[in-house]
Amino acid sequence: MLPAEALHAFLRSRRSVRRFLPEPVPEAVIRRILETAVYAPSAHNSQPWQVALLREEAPKRRLAEALTAQMEADMRAGGADEKAIAARVARSRRRIDEAPLIVMLNLDAGLCPDADDPREHHMAVQSVAMVGLQILLAAHAEGLGGVWVCWPLYAPEATRRALGLPPTWQPQGMLFLGYPAEAPLPPPRRTLAVDEAWVVP
Ligand SMILES: Cc1cc2nc3c(=O)[nH]c(=O)nc-3n(C[C@H](O)[C@H](O)[C@H](O)COP(=O)(O)O)c2cc1C
Repeated sequence: MLPAEALHAFLRSRRSVRRFLPEPVPEAVIRRILETAVYAPSAHNSQPWQVALLREEAPKRRLAEALTAQMEADMRAGGADEKAIAARVARSRRRIDEAPLIVMLNLDAGLCPDADDPREHHMAVQSVAMVGLQILLAAHAEGLGGVWVCWPLYAPEATRRALGLPPTWQPQGMLFLGYPAEAPLPPPRRTLAVDEAWVVP
């Protein structure tokens, strides 16, 4: 086990990386990351997650089309001007295209003890977020950069259709992963310092 100081430094050094080198992520690295990912905690140890990996141009293009169609419709309905819509769509397509690896994070209702109970469903969503962070940290350990991207949440059905996901899979978000082409500065952090925390008397 590494000393606590080194582990804390590692945890603090993860950043959301949004620009990547055009290098593929080796298969062995992806395997190691996913093998570590399953050690994330989950409600009832239900492990209610499923991932779909996108590396090839064709599925990424289908995903980009599905997500940007929804984006476009939402922006138009919100009164955005056509230039802004076109710019956002182009930027989003470029980001999908340039991500060497996309991990679609899904909640599998078939693995949730009672997905019709909103509290159980909520716990399953929280569990999927846990596995997402575990993947980001395992990727960081491999020298990869990554970012959680929420767009599938706005178009879960279209995402499922575009990728041919099983009907019980509910897309929650996606991770863009690859070797970093940027080193972002840490954004500001609120403190949870002990002397400022509210300790219940
Ligand atoms: C649930 C969630 C949704 C996010 N959605 C997006 C997103 O759609 N696009 C994006 O570029 N970053 C997204 N992020 C990344 C955050 O912007 C980032 O984590 C935050 O600014 C803190 O920066 P850091 O990760 O470098 O510490 C998301 C992060 C989380 C946890």
